[in-house]
Amino acid sequence: MTIFTPHPTQQSYPAGPFPSVITGAGNLPAFITANKPKIDAGLANSGTVLFRGFDVPDAKAFDAAINAYGEDGFSYAESLSNAVRVNITPRVFTANEAPPDVSIFLHHEMAQTPIYPAKLFFYCEIAPEQGGATPLCRSDILWERLCDIAPDAAEKFESLGVRYTNIMPPAPDPDSGQGRSWRDTLGAVDKPAAEKRLRGLGYRFEWNKDESLRVTTPILDAVRTLPDGRKVFFNQLIAAFRGWKDARNDPSKSVTFGDGSPIDMAVMQDAIEIADALSYDLNWQAGDVALLDNFIVMHGRRPFSGKRRVLASLIA
Ligand code: FE2
Repeated sequence: MTIFTPHPTQQSYPAGPFPSVITGAGNLPAFITANKPKIDAGLANSGTVLFRGFDVPDAKAFDAAINAYGEDGFSYAESLSNAVRVNITPRVFTANEAPPDVSIFLHHEMAQTPIYPAKLFFYCEIAPEQGGATPLCRSDILWERLCDIAPDAAEKFESLGVRYTNIMPPAPDPDSGQGRSWRDTLGAVDKPAAEKRLRGLGYRFEWNKDESLRVTTPILDAVRTLPDGRKVFFNQLIAAFRGWKDARNDPSKSVTFGDGSPIDMAVMQDAIEIADALSYDLNWQAGDVALLDNFIVMHGRRPFSGKRRVLASLIA
């Protein structure tokens, strides 16, 4: 018997609806423990499972649901994420400390670094008063459509990969969606420690006069093949082109193909338009928990006003 329930706003694809929705009640950890294989089957197909209606009143209850799922956590401290976050429990943190009027554009979590989580949990503790949806986009469908309309560029993405450049501040910048300091990002107490970590990861780097640090990744894949053969546009290009703009960063210089050649803005515009057309807005209700496959689905954050508290946890 299926555990999934039809939902009025779901998108419909040949392989099934998106997102997968489970409307339940009562104890979420117990439900997850009893149904993990079915939950994982839905996740592998659609890339997102939304748990709605369960009794998840606070971060502690969310933490219990994550533990019931039983997979290892991904360490934010060791990651190279550039978002500023605050831990609530050892496995739960604020999704992004960027100001409410800042859009977080669609991305695969940490795909701009060589170290990324396989899955993410989100939990809505306080539903936003206005705005604040989490847009979700199927990266496998996006890739199919991009191949149809821009086959030459798609071929280049796949064969050349991409490199990302960003500038990290010496101290956290809470006004930016990517304001994590180089000390925190690299877990480095000083410059030599930062350089050692970067060399180990194959990054290029350059110190600026103001003690900020410009880094360029090694060549990273722009396209991945899933275990079932589907290809996904697994990268950070849309977020980088649309959003990597702050006091230090200029989006047009942030990303190149792996050979250093520029990425045509028109092609990125195609990808952005496809992604916008495919986006599904997850409009949060308090107590919602969503489980995302980071390889299948991109996520972001719409601007909002008023209170909104969405917490996150990463699975290795
Ligand atoms: Fe994210």
